[in-house]
Amino acid sequence: MANILCIGAGYVGGPTMAVIAQKCPEHRVVVVDMDGAKIAAWQSDQLPIYEPGLKEVVLSCRDKNLFFSREVERHIAEADIIFVSVNTPTKTFGQGAGKAADLQYWEKTARQILQHSRTPKIVVEKSTLPVRTAEAMERILHSHDRDLPFDVVSNPEFLAEGTAIPNMQNPDRVLIGARDTPSGLKAMQAIVDIYAHWVPRERIITTNLWSSELSKLVANAFLAQRISSVNSISALCEKTEADIQEIAHAIGLDSRIGPRFLNASVGFGGSCFKKDILNLVYLCDHYGLSEVARYWEQVVRMNEYQQARFHSRILSSMFNTVAGKRIALFGASFKANTSDTRESPALNVCRALVEERAEVVLTDPYALDNARIDLGEDARRVIFEPDPYVAAANAHAIAILTEWPLFADLDYEAIYRSMAKPAFIFDGRNILNHRGLFSIGFNVQAIGKPPLIHPAR
Ligand code: UDX
Ligand code: UDX
Repeated sequence: MANILCIGAGYVGGPTMAVIAQKCPEHRVVVVDMDGAKIAAWQSDQLPIYEPGLKEVVLSCRDKNLFFSREVERHIAEADIIFVSVNTPTKTFGQGAGKAADLQYWEKTARQILQHSRTPKIVVEKSTLPVRTAEAMERILHSHDRDLPFDVVSNPEFLAEGTAIPNMQNPDRVLIGARDTPSGLKAMQAIVDIYAHWVPRERIITTNLWSSELSKLVANAFLAQRISSVNSISALCEKTEADIQEIAHAIGLDSRIGPRFLNASVGFGGSCFKKDILNLVYLCDHYGLSEVARYWEQVVRMNEYQQARFHSRILSSMFNTVAGKRIALFGASFKANTSDTRESPALNVCRALVEERAEVVLTDPYALDNARIDLGEDARRVIFEPDPYVAAANAHAIAILTEWPLFADLDYEAIYRSMAKPAFIFDGRNILNHRGLFSIGFNVQAIGKPPLIHPAR
């Protein structure tokens, strides 16, 4: 039996440890967090995050071999293996502000581990970190004269929100990086053994520390780059009457390209893509690789352009003014099946329309509470409405901003009747039946598609 500890009970730490506990009943898994309210929520029926299947997994092992606690120091002392999944946001101050990762929580955690350890530990980097962070970790952990053995292992997470549980239970791969020393390899094997409980051995890949750290940034950069690439072409489609979904289908059938991550959209969001690419850009600049940095920076620029293009299109289609007009925004989360609104394009569009003095009504099945917090001051100028029918009533326009399936299944005839005319729909996720909506009477504008506009009568 091993004592496994995870520091950081967020979107990553919580689901990851719940699955490890479920799959490894002989190990004792404790998740700690400095946020007492979050720990209380993990101990309750109302988990702090919404993730399909998460509650079932948590309930199957909570208080058996999965525990949530605020007692960080005691559990550090007891642990054999410590996963660290505290947040690593983009730095907002000083050198590297706006690009580099803010490692203050990481460093603080490393010092906390050092201070409370009396036995050897394996420290696992779960958070996404700049390449070579493990080196800094090792230096901090070995900065004491007690000379305790610490091994730092990198094991990046590849969970996508909304599918975190299936991603953990059936991963494409698990990546584990460690030092090529006898104790580094032993530590690596200990982490391999955990995952080998349920992941086929050939899907557990082992590399050197730096490859593992950098692979995480590169995986996210490549995924985001596909979205920016398809979004860039969506702009060209809107000028040329080509259809981005037809193009994505056509190119995705080339097995060298593949079909996934080719959905044109109002833009990518989430806590990782932008942060990780900016981090990559910062690293490249740091190493003097300006051309490489500018190449990846463009992925983020294109994403900003796509969101700006979307709300400009709303404005220009609606006779260049939305002031005083009710506009229903369908979706607040950055993608479907999550309550997470971090970096959500929906909120950027929302802010832009508030700025134009539209009467903005935001509807979402799970994310309104987070949206209210993230919008800050602007929240006072937004109406939060859980019922999409109520949100759309008397609106001049609907904009689909999150691909929640429920938005595709609404009664759009009834919605049309309840709206101001001419009624517009802007489909920022291409999930609706555009021809059907057009025949109901809507003016329809979708991403990367020719507009369907009724002629003036
Ligand atoms: C975080 C990182 O943002 C991401 O880069 C990485 O890949 C995984 O970890 P996430 O789990 O989504 O992602 O972050 P968040 O939900 O904010 O959870 C982090 C938790 O760590 C928070 O609950 C926070 O209270 C906790 N924390 C932070 C500590 O317990 N101690 C600290 O010193 C700092
Ligand atoms: C991502 C990575 O997929 C995951 O491996 C990593 O561990 C964390 O970052 P996540 O941000 O949860 O996961 O969601 P993801 O499914 O990758 O979607 C990110 C954004 O891209 C969302 O806003 C989504 O709507 C958008 N997206 C995705 C598109 O616009 N088009 C697509 O084809 C796919």
